[in-house]
Order: sequence, then C-alpha cells, then structure tokens
Amino acid sequence: MFAVRFDRFGGPEVLRLATAEAPRPEPGQIRVRVHAAGVSPVDLGLRSGRTPMSAQLPLPHIPGVDAAGVVDDIGFDVDGVTIGDHVFGIVDLAQLGGASAQYAVLQRWAHKPATMPWTQAGAAGTGIETATRALDLLGLEPGMTLVVDGAAGGVGSIAVQLAAARGIRVIGTARADNHDFLHQLAATPVAYGPGLADRLDALSVTQVDRALDVAGAGSLPELIDLTGDPAAVVTLADFTAPTYGVRLSMGQLAGEPDGRHGLPAAAQLFTEGRFTVPIEAAFPLEKAADAHETAEQGSRRGKIVLTVDDTHEI
Ligand SMILES: NC(=O)c1ccc[n+]([C@@H]2O[C@H](COP(=O)([O-])OP(=O)(O)OC[C@H]3O[C@@H](n4cnc5c(N)ncnc54)[C@H](OP(=O)(O)O)[C@@H]3O)[C@@H](O)[C@H]2O)c1
Repeated sequence: MFAVRFDRFGGPEVLRLATAEAPRPEPGQIRVRVHAAGVSPVDLGLRSGRTPMSAQLPLPHIPGVDAAGVVDDIGFDVDGVTIGDHVFGIVDLAQLGGASAQYAVLQRWAHKPATMPWTQAGAAGTGIETATRALDLLGLEPGMTLVVDGAAGGVGSIAVQLAAARGIRVIGTARADNHDFLHQLAATPVAYGPGLADRLDALSVTQVDRALDVAGAGSLPELIDLTGDPAAVVTLADFTAPTYGVRLSMGQLAGEPDGRHGLPAAAQLFTEGRFTVPIEAAFPLEKAADAHETAEQGSRRGKIVLTVDDTHEI
C-alpha cells in the first residue's frame, strides 16, 4: 500500500509518501480502505519529536489517528459490521498512528451516515470520542451553562455541538474572527484570555456550572473561579491540572473509560441535521506536509483532513 511516513523527527518536510506493508486487523479490529484521514495535534507533536511519546515511537512511522473508509477486512470477535460497509473511527491508540495511508486498522468505529462527506467522517473520530468523554466527566444536566475554552478548534467545535445537543447552554471562547462560526454551532462566543469573568458579566451570564478547557492556555484558575469548584472543571490539554485539583482527562492512554459511545450518537445527530464536523481544509495525501504545516499555524475552524484515493503517485 502507499502511506505517508517519516523516518526521522522534524518539521513537516520529513513526511514522505512511500510504500508500506498493509496492516492486518487483530481481534476486535477492522481494516478500511481509507477515503479520508484527519490531522490532529498529536500527529504534529509525534512527528516533531517534541512530545515525550515520540521516545517510544518505532521509525518509520505512519501518522494519523482518525480515518474513514470502506471495510475490507474484519478481525475475530467483531460484530455488527460487514465487508463493504462505510465507517469512520479511531486507530488503536497504542500504535499512535497509522491512518494517513491507503489502508488503516480501526479499533473503534461507527457507521458513516450516507450523507456525511468522507472528509468530515475521516476527521471525526478522536474529536467525538474526546468531547464525549469530557462531557460525561463533567456530569452535565440539561439547563446547565458550560464554558468551553478553545471552542473553535478540532475538539472544541465538536464539544460545543454535542453539549448543545444535551440541552446545555454553551459559551465558547475563540478569537474574534471565529465568533460567527461559534454562533453557527449554537454557542455564545466570547474572547479568550484573562478577564473572562468580566466579559461574561457583560453578556449577563450570572452562573457558570461547568467548564471544559480544550486549549491548555493557562485558564484553569479563572475557570475554577467562574464555576466555584475545581471538580466542575475538566481539561484536555493543561498538564498543571493536578496543582489545582482539576481533572486532566487523557482517555485510553491513561486507562480511563473512553467516549466511544459518542461515535454512533454523533452519527445519529448528523442524520438529524444537529451535528457537523467543521473542516478547515482538505489536502490530498501527497500534500501531507502542507497539511501539517497549515495545522501548525494554530488558529482555525475545525479540522484539517487528508483525502485518499487510488491516484497518488509515490
Ligand atoms: N486529552 C485528550 O484526550 C486529548 C484528545 C485530543 C486532543 N487533545 C488536546 O487538546 C488540544 C486541542 O486539540 P484540538 O484538536 O482542538 O486543537 P486545535 O484544532 O489546534 O484547536 C485549538 C484551539 O485553541 C484555541 N486557542 C488558541 N489560543 C488560545 C487561548 N489563549 N485561549 C483559548 N483558546 C485558544 C484556538 O482558537 P482560535 O482558532 O479561535 O484562535 C484553536 O481553535 C490539543 O492540545 C490536543 O493535543 C487532548
């Protein structure tokens, strides 16, 4: 098969389209012929060598943790899916990648709604799982008010929609350019950075019940002040969380229950017109270096995704 790989750590330029051995599904896994694969912050960190997990990465490595495609092989102990089904999902996270390729093995998946574009499906998996897990941990109940810090990015833009679908009033932080975008996702936008409480006052928000930090930009003390309780705050990206008594959720990598049940639930919301996976940009697989470079530029609306077909030349 063909795949995007890197054989040394570095900038986006270390990514190459190359041939690789197609993976085989283990028990409980399926293999897909990939149509689209998401680009996530974890892919950028592993490729750069900056993340501690890079140390355990055998090279060469195929990046990518999210993919959507057509099922072409099924491991033992798998029910509810047949060859030819259209699915989207997440690789085995212990492998830390494998999705940016012609074939990928998925550990968790759901059926892709017929009307969901491949680009959205390919970028959806970890965003939905992560957002679902975080919202579950927050113990949200309909009518509550939730602040999402970093609401316009890949995980945040999914979290605000899934929270709104639970009957939550959502206030999302983003740069000014993204405020209309957050309105479209049924969130009330507000600028991020110090002074959030004053800006919420100006919006006549008198009570914040829960807060989700997706950005890891140092807002935990302010989010605790807003909610009045460290237990009412969850972060996905701030490693200082234990200092404040705040839950840092890392999912399967930390042995936590995951949010995989969110995948079919989000697919159902999509068919009802209540959920979408915002896509900032799509690149063909051979432009993976451009995709990583764009992803590293930071501010965006939703996900960056690679498209995969049979025409890629190595
Ligand atoms: N723990 C887990 O299980 C888990 C799982 C997935 C991801 N993550 C982590 O979660 C983080 C976000 O992932 P992502 O895919 O959503 O990243 P992303 O698409 O790059 O989005 C990050 C968002 O942060 C916002 N931002 C930038 N500076 C900010 C600030 N000072 N205050 C508040 N928001 C700010 C940006 O908003 P604007 O565009 O509006 O500037 C951007 O939309 C990453 O660190 C990732 O590694 C953790």
